[in-house]
Amino acid sequence: MPKELIRLSNCAMAFDGEDVLKNINLYFNDKEFLTLLGPSGCGKTTTLRIIGGFLKPISGDVYFDGVRINDVPPHKRAVNTIFQKYALFPHLNVFENIAFGLKLQRQNGKKLSKTEISSRVFEMLDIVSLKGFEKRDVTSLSGGQQQRVAIARALVNRPKVLLLDEPLGALDMRLRKDMQIELKRIQQTTGITFIYVTHDQEEALAMSDTIVVMESGEIQQIGTPEEIYNEPKNAFVADFIGESNILDGVMHSDGLVEIFGRKFKCLDGGFKPMELVDVVIRPEDIDIVDVSQGMLKGTVTGITFRGVLYDIIVDFHGFKWLIQTTDLCPVGSKIGIKIDPDGIHIMHKSQFSGMFGDYSSFSDEYDEISDVAYEFEPEEAEGNYEA
Ligand SMILES: Nc1ncnc2c1ncn2[C@@H]1O[C@H](COP(=O)(O)OP(=O)(O)OP(=O)(O)O)[C@@H](O)[C@H]1O
Ligand SMILES: [Mg+2]
Repeated sequence: MPKELIRLSNCAMAFDGEDVLKNINLYFNDKEFLTLLGPSGCGKTTTLRIIGGFLKPISGDVYFDGVRINDVPPHKRAVNTIFQKYALFPHLNVFENIAFGLKLQRQNGKKLSKTEISSRVFEMLDIVSLKGFEKRDVTSLSGGQQQRVAIARALVNRPKVLLLDEPLGALDMRLRKDMQIELKRIQQTTGITFIYVTHDQEEALAMSDTIVVMESGEIQQIGTPEEIYNEPKNAFVADFIGESNILDGVMHSDGLVEIFGRKFKCLDGGFKPMELVDVVIRPEDIDIVDVSQGMLKGTVTGITFRGVLYDIIVDFHGFKWLIQTTDLCPVGSKIGIKIDPDGIHIMHKSQFSGMFGDYSSFSDEYDEISDVAYEFEPEEAEGNYEA
């Protein structure tokens, strides 16, 4: 059984009378990799600062191992933080940077011995794959190597919990991906609880045991990466995590939903008869078939080569879908599509309904995205096939 380590209970925060966190209830398990994910300004850093003790919530409680710690200062919490702008000490070498915190530490009122410090620094160098770098000037290191020194420095004190606020933000894409794997490995070998903040959904999916999706100071969904991706709770989560076509539907009965006046089999149930719902169809769950075989028929209005796949934009009944396919479908071609029941996910209507999930702004040509007026042009009747 996972053991609960930290709990935020009804935590709220406001700055200048403006609500920034609204009644957050969240727990973090021991040895877990948990990610706070959400758009800029949604309250991720604020949540992290409350856990670290740098901010006091205006209401609610923070518990560590069952003990209320609202009034415990940051340095007395078994928590360490890596901020986005981690500052290494430029005048100290790699070894001295990592050893810095240990030299200040006292055990039973006594300093740690030189041997103890040295063995713990070398243990950390091994964990972050920087063996042999101990004498190097930190300013001579690459971005990724500096990042690893920052991680070693934060871990050497053996915190129970490490808070990481967009730690890979400054790195280029390739290095970022390498460091994601590295961080996950470090978390698993050390067994330290990681609370990780990012607005990058791919990063969250790749690294986390648990993802908390936040928006405007509220939690929208908590789940494993698979749950969040496959069973988003509402249109906000579906749109924020990956690409989604989100359509209006009517739930006729368990396993049967109507979209565009046609009935589709699905796996979801438990809705009221004839309940209006949001339907998510992921671009990769749509098969392209001959027009004569299609459950729906549409016209390709845009195509972009993405390497392995093409992103194509297809007009169905005036609604533009994104489909990812290995088939080359030229602009103007008519295609049919098939969707398996497990590719159709049903959600209750929410405050986010109608806000996301149409790819009309991708328009006929990606180049014209900047031409705002284009979005408002009437749909060509030619694209609207009756199924
Ligand atoms: N000290 C402060 N004083 C006033 N407003 C603040 C303060 N700190 C944060 N805020 C506001 O609170 C909101 C949430 O900020 P927070 O830094 O938690 O967002 P975030 O999710 O970390 O965003 P980002 O991804 O951009 O880092 C923002 O609107 C921000 O402007
Ligand atoms: Mg932030």
